[in-house]
Amino acid sequence: MHYAWNGNDFSHIMTPPILETKSLTRRFGTFTAVDTLDLTVSRGEIFGLLGSNGAGKTTTIKMLTTLLPPSFGDAFVAGFSVIHDAVKVRRAIGYVPQGVSADGSLTGYENLLIFAKLYDLPRREQQARIAEVLEYMGLTTDAGRLVAEFSGGMIRRLEIAQSMLHRPQLLILDEPTVGLDPIARDEVWKHLLDLRTRNSTTLFFTTHYMEEAEGYCDRVAIMHQGKIAALGTCKELEGLLGKGSHSLNEVFTHFAGSEIDTGGSFHEVAAERATAQRMG
Ligand SMILES: Nc1ncnc2c1ncn2[C@@H]1O[C@H](COP(=O)(O)OP(=O)(O)OP(=O)(O)O)[C@@H](O)[C@H]1O
Ligand SMILES: [Mg+2]
Repeated sequence: MHYAWNGNDFSHIMTPPILETKSLTRRFGTFTAVDTLDLTVSRGEIFGLLGSNGAGKTTTIKMLTTLLPPSFGDAFVAGFSVIHDAVKVRRAIGYVPQGVSADGSLTGYENLLIFAKLYDLPRREQQARIAEVLEYMGLTTDAGRLVAEFSGGMIRRLEIAQSMLHRPQLLILDEPTVGLDPIARDEVWKHLLDLRTRNSTTLFFTTHYMEEAEGYCDRVAIMHQGKIAALGTCKELEGLLGKGSHSLNEVFTHFAGSEIDTGGSFHEVAAERATAQRMG
């Protein structure tokens, strides 16, 4: 990969973008779920991937996290290829999956200890790191409680804490606030923004909530049938529909070709049910 030398800012040319996809493609049989995706995310950016159900967001994320091999193309995290340098990619990212990843039968602390071991953190550092992420996510006083007793928002914050233990440069979150009430969503975001401010962590996330895109994203991409249909700041996207003022909802409907779920969709209900089931 070549980076042009601009003569002044040496550090910039030495540092590859935190995330770059090159013709990233995933097929399932004859169906193309992600279609020649080209996307670049800068360090420290908050980037939102929008798109209706089945647009290809989770499939994209699974390739970025090395869980699913691309059919074609490649993606680079901190300059490392998801195909050729999967181990280095995994070290550079934290991942909060769409489904529930915390264990309800354990305490918050015990969940974190499992992940600390999973990430192979040195034994002498484990306690300090756990204390650090608990504090980041506002869970210090609840760490000893069973996760089954946590609210949905607390569970999500614990899962974000889990993904942060190895201090990743890039956090990839698949619908971090699905099924949460507005207050719990605000609380999750308060902690995510704080994380970005303190550590310059880049946030790459998917959401069906337009107000999250408008409120927090530096840039958003609207995905439709495996391709990026629109990309830019919310203001830029709102300007794409021409004369008059347009909401992001309208832009989404235009580019994603469907109405936005305002809650209670099968998708959300299924996600919430999965949470309830896991947590007993
Ligand atoms: N393992 C698989 N085998 C076959 N098809 C799959 C597989 N995984 C995903 N797909 C299909 O790929 C398409 C994209 O799915 P994906 O989960 O990436 O969508 P999404 O944008 O995350 O949707 P949602 O908003 O519902 O989470 C869908 O049509 C889905 O059915
Ligand atoms: Mg998904």
